[in-house]
Amino acid sequence: MFSEKSKLLKKLNIMHFSSLDSTSTYLKKLAENGAPSGTVVIADTQSGGRGRMGRSFLSKKGGLYMSVLLRPNLDLNYVSNSCITNITPLAAVAVSEAIESISGKQIDIKWVNDLFFQGKKVCGILAEGSLDYIVLGIGINLTQNFADTELFDIATALYTDLEKNAYDALKKRLVNEILKKLLCRYEFELANGDFFEQYRSRLFIIGRRVKVLQGENEKNATVIDLNRDFTLLVRYDDESISSLNSGEISLKVQNEA
Ligand code: BTN
Repeated sequence: MFSEKSKLLKKLNIMHFSSLDSTSTYLKKLAENGAPSGTVVIADTQSGGRGRMGRSFLSKKGGLYMSVLLRPNLDLNYVSNSCITNITPLAAVAVSEAIESISGKQIDIKWVNDLFFQGKKVCGILAEGSLDYIVLGIGINLTQNFADTELFDIATALYTDLEKNAYDALKKRLVNEILKKLLCRYEFELANGDFFEQYRSRLFIIGRRVKVLQGENEKNATVIDLNRDFTLLVRYDDESISSLNSGEISLKVQNEA
């Protein structure tokens, strides 16, 4: 998929750390100091991993925690508010494809930024930034065990266990594949949205009952479809229809059909 045409793939600068507060916080500082796009920060553990809407992201050993710096106005000559909105679904498609191609395991998407494996969250994606730059954070649970945590019912890992050499090799292959898929889609599809169908086809919540959470408010709804601008079309139980913008909203998927 156009990987030989990608300019950024040839300009990668990958930094590894055994531990950081947060790869995204670290990379944001580099971005503010002028680091170029294609700068990538990876850590084995994070003491202050961050998720959407101010949540924390548990980042013990056994996961891949990486952040990628992008500068759409310089890389693509493209400045638009939709950059920051579209980069999350684009990354969700690229990371799902990369995990599947390396592990053979099927990955589904829960709008807007969560990747699911066998019905539980296995990866979170967080895009932060401005028109100047985007820091894209990706956290994948490879073997991190949630048995003794409150996340047991909602989060899982791709593998139950892996011997050290196999684990190291897997992580390396995954990083390469993610960067390849991500940067190609970014360079060729961020502006035209060509990844829409790939995103929609993995979206397992279409037709499902959900709770829409916004601040203190919680409303039951049924997901009708995904709109072309990646907002989510839902019907509330009072029959009103709404297109949800991911900014302030999160979803809880119900077990009923
Ligand atoms: C979410 O689930 O809400 C998004 C989680 C994003 C986690 C990744 S791990 C690498 C990067 N560094 C962080 O502090 N967060 C992102």
